[in-house]
Amino acid sequence: MAAYRSKVVERIELPSRERRERALQDAGYNVFNLASEDVYVDLLTDSGTGTMSDAQWAALVRGDEAYAGSASFEALESAVADVMGFSHVVPAHQGRGAENVLYGTLLDEGDVVPNNTHFDTTRAHVANQGAEPVDCPVPAAGDPNATDPFKGNFSIERAREVVAEVGVENVPVVIQTITNNSAAGQPVSVENSRRVADFAADIDATFVIDACRFAENAGFVRERESAFADATVAEIAREQLACADAVVMSGKKDGLANVGGFVATDDPTLYERCKERAILYEGFSTYGGMAGRDLAALAVGLREAVEDAYVGDRLAEVGLLGELLADAGVPIYEPTGGHAVYVDAAAALPHLPAGEFPGQALVCELYRQGGVRAVELGSFAFPKTDRPELVRLAVPRRTYGREHFEHVIETARTVLENRSAVSGLRIESEPEMAELRHFTAELEPVSG
Ligand SMILES: Cc1ncc(COP(=O)(O)O)c(C=O)c1O
Repeated sequence: MAAYRSKVVERIELPSRERRERALQDAGYNVFNLASEDVYVDLLTDSGTGTMSDAQWAALVRGDEAYAGSASFEALESAVADVMGFSHVVPAHQGRGAENVLYGTLLDEGDVVPNNTHFDTTRAHVANQGAEPVDCPVPAAGDPNATDPFKGNFSIERAREVVAEVGVENVPVVIQTITNNSAAGQPVSVENSRRVADFAADIDATFVIDACRFAENAGFVRERESAFADATVAEIAREQLACADAVVMSGKKDGLANVGGFVATDDPTLYERCKERAILYEGFSTYGGMAGRDLAALAVGLREAVEDAYVGDRLAEVGLLGELLADAGVPIYEPTGGHAVYVDAAAALPHLPAGEFPGQALVCELYRQGGVRAVELGSFAFPKTDRPELVRLAVPRRTYGREHFEHVIETARTVLENRSAVSGLRIESEPEMAELRHFTAELEPVSG
């Protein structure tokens, strides 16, 4: 059943093969360097790339641009209280701004931070405070074929080992990322969030939920965690987020906005400390780097994100892409996650050794063949970790339909049919901070 119809459209065009070849070369085989007009179906990210609703556009026009005390900030505060259950909100220009505010407040040099899996900006912000990010995924997360319903869960057993190794006094923060973006967008059960909350309380740590995709996660909980089969997405989201002492949020995901983010908490002391740091890095604490109109759109988007019809539509659109790819014989990570389909690049291009970045080679080939932009989230993006070679096809919210997906499938099918011709890649230049490598490094084909 369709939940939306279009009111505004945007013209797109598949550039010629020759133009795509040139664009890829000029981009140093890094699709972050492509111009969007050279891309036909853009699955680089679901972050800030979605289609806003008519209600969000209406809210934009009524945005209050007052520097302090704007009505749009009050609308955001009230949406966060209703939807997420927190009374204090510190806005930021986007998720990583909120990460800088929160982790800069909570962490010191030498601290150690367990997380089910750190997303790249989270890893970089933890490292930037001189702390050590440690991933604690459940073992099934690393197996693209395991069928567990909550492969995004946090392994408390692994985190206990970390605490035993480094000493409880060095673990002031525990993070849980829902859904687990770097583990193929897999969901986290409410039961797991409750257990992590108990674990964090045991070691006297602050429990932070990275809530970027909290609504998609709640949709999965309703489908897969029997205790919640009759609950609404809104009820599940509140229940799960209530486990945390603070949430860090990118409004560009389940805020259904093009920009924005925030930290939210009920802890008045943490709130005051975050506000101080936010003023230094983001802006006054009632706008935090966002225009009033963006605060207003985010306030509306947060409420829409927990509507059952929205979440049902969202999980169905991403599920459809996964199903079509699997039917075409593309080796995908199963089950399909909340915001993206992840392709197992090592299985798709088995002739390429890990050192030749099979994931990035696949990303380049999808673009060359069909103007489809995906992103590598394997050994190129995460150089210091032992990760499966995944390529993410992220689906912007409320934006693409079946015809676009059919083009993606045709493209992937052709790439796989001609896989033996796909060359590996080597790095030509890379930034100093290894955690940010995939954004700016440039590469070249190993052969030719
Ligand atoms: C789990 C997670 N945390 C944090 C961020 C950072 O958010 P932003 O891109 O808004 O800075 C992202 C972005 O993709 C994310 O997926």
